[in-house]
Amino acid sequence: MEKERSSFSGKLGFVLAAAGSAVGLGNIWRFPYLAAENGGGLFLLCYVILALTFGFTLLTTEVALGRKTQQGPLTAYGVINKKWKPLGVIAFIIPSIILPYYCVIGGWVTKYFVTFISGRDADTVADGYFTGFITSQWAPIIFMLVFLLATAIIVYLGVEGGIERYSKVLMPALLIMVIGISIYSLTIKGPQGTALQGLKIYVVPDFKGLTFTKLLNVILAAMGQLFFSISVSMGIMVAYGSYVKKEVNLMNSINQIEIFDTVVAFLAGLMVVPAVFAFSGKEGMSAGPGLIFVSLPKIFNEMGKAGRFIGIAFFLLVLFAAITSSVSILEAMVSSIMDKFGLSRKKSTVIASIYGLIVAVIVCLGYNKLYFEATFSTVKAGQILDILDFASNNVLMPIAAILTCILIGWVAKPKTIIDEVTRNGEKFGRKALYIAMIKVIAPVLLVILLLNSIGVFG
Ligand code: ALA
Repeated sequence: MEKERSSFSGKLGFVLAAAGSAVGLGNIWRFPYLAAENGGGLFLLCYVILALTFGFTLLTTEVALGRKTQQGPLTAYGVINKKWKPLGVIAFIIPSIILPYYCVIGGWVTKYFVTFISGRDADTVADGYFTGFITSQWAPIIFMLVFLLATAIIVYLGVEGGIERYSKVLMPALLIMVIGISIYSLTIKGPQGTALQGLKIYVVPDFKGLTFTKLLNVILAAMGQLFFSISVSMGIMVAYGSYVKKEVNLMNSINQIEIFDTVVAFLAGLMVVPAVFAFSGKEGMSAGPGLIFVSLPKIFNEMGKAGRFIGIAFFLLVLFAAITSSVSILEAMVSSIMDKFGLSRKKSTVIASIYGLIVAVIVCLGYNKLYFEATFSTVKAGQILDILDFASNNVLMPIAAILTCILIGWVAKPKTIIDEVTRNGEKFGRKALYIAMIKVIAPVLLVILLLNSIGVFG
């Protein structure tokens, strides 16, 4: 007898789980930097326009694909068209590459949260503290293990009892914290100026010396960020879509997910850019680990007593953002294994987590026992983590998205998705835009993004 597929309890559960997936490290450690670097308001404007067109197209396609086929990413594409089964394999490989390194970074966040809450936050300011930690032998592995275990437990508990239940608590909490810290951040005065001066850099469009090439670079930066941020091409939205009940209004849900993700990204910038500016000037902005683990702890320290509490709240919110995303990455793998091999959720979770653990240990060892420096394309002196990140984000994700556009735009036809979205008589807003995007504009933009990501344009 066919077992009934698990599902989210309703629209709210789905929207919060998907927003939980979308809001992650990408929003907090890259968005503020990219905005500050790429003309502030100009970047924000490009980002919003792309979210409403490009992001909306890809997100709608994946969620509808999942709900229509009732399959995880590994098998969903083959249901649409048998010849396209290999695309499912790519869609399965992507989360399998991301999960291990995402959990390693999740471990770093856990370590900083523990350090702040146990009152040893002053330690994190010492020169070389972060490098000392990630190159040490055991600590990164132990913290990664804690983070991976928490991720695995939530997935093990199931769609409604695990993913939905935790997202419903963590996402509203995250929103409150990010709003609170942004408000505080706007009141800061530092040696380099006031937060309000920093705010100007963030929100006022900077058209100075804007050329066509510069504008193209801003657009590509916004597109690359959007792509990672809304969790498309990672198999995730197909898996989550497959758990959405048929009566849920997809269009409406997708708009809410995008709004949630964009608002949190904007607020993350509001939280970070003015504070960094006040203490270290515009040059103090950096992306990735440098921002979260090196620059911000120094700023928290300079804030005096309040800094400790802000630091605790900050790392807690990053932890919430990271865990709801890593849960979705693991779920993309687990739903695939369940659908393809007919295994139970519990067995599939254990298998995927053990795999994730082994590769994550190798990623940790990449900073000591297995240390090397790889330089190729856009990667400079990278370790195993950087190589996995490059392979998934810069190469496989754009390829999967291009192939999805060809499959839906030309082979199966956009009607496949439109019919699924409007199955209860809902209105498909922006229908003409969707068709133009999926057939022509999105694949063309994606090819340019792919070439840019692999360093073809230098
Ligand atoms: N969308 C997730 C993030 O932004 C993966 O980190």
